[in-house]
Amino acid sequence: MTSLDATIEYVDLASDMHVRNFSCGQTEIDGWFSANASKSHGRFTHRVTVARRLVSGGIVGFHALRLHSDITADLRKNEKAAYWKEPFFLSVQLVYIAVSRPLHRNRYGSGLLMNAVQRAYQVSKLAGSYGMTVCAVDTDTAQFYRNIGFVDYGPPEQNKLILPVWVMAELLEG
Ligand SMILES: CC(C)(COP(=O)(O)OP(=O)(O)OC[C@H]1O[C@@H](n2cnc3c(N)ncnc32)[C@H](O)[C@@H]1OP(=O)(O)O)[C@@H](O)C(=O)NCCC(=O)NCCS
Repeated sequence: MTSLDATIEYVDLASDMHVRNFSCGQTEIDGWFSANASKSHGRFTHRVTVARRLVSGGIVGFHALRLHSDITADLRKNEKAAYWKEPFFLSVQLVYIAVSRPLHRNRYGSGLLMNAVQRAYQVSKLAGSYGMTVCAVDTDTAQFYRNIGFVDYGPPEQNKLILPVWVMAELLEG
């Protein structure tokens, strides 16, 4: 996968990576990465991509993706059109995205997010899916996703956002 930052590469999680040293500051995400990511990646329940430094191999961050079905009724009116006859729609869910705590606000998260969008777009093109979905941890963090075109859907307290496939196409193909 291409990188926005030439010093970073995006690679599949591997068993020899030092995942226990990684901390993004969110206990639940750090715990999952150190205890479950490798197993989940190996079993294909999630696919985990690591952003690491080309020279040192140090882990800068990661994202975890999986296929997800959600309720069509939660979509906004204009986004329901393609699925209105079906009770559920499929998306690629961004289950986790995290950057090492001291590196926050240096655009590494944006690089990881764009890498995840590229992957989700490939899935949509190859097998059909509505786009990418995510549950933001809080309303502030939702802004990170809105910046690139995600829109809110579903009950506000669930902080669910979606990036429809046609917005992905615009982002990636112009
Ligand atoms: C969320 C996270 C991945 C963002 O990564 P990052 O590298 O810090 O983000 P970026 O530098 O690419 O941010 C780009 C823009 O997104 C927005 N943004 C990023 N993090 C934000 C946050 N926590 N709250 C609000 N806006 C945020 C800002 O507009 C930022 O631009 P600015 O720095 O010029 O204001 C990172 O903060 C992180 O790992 N947090 C802990 C784990 C977590 O909460 N994951 C998300 C679960 S939903």
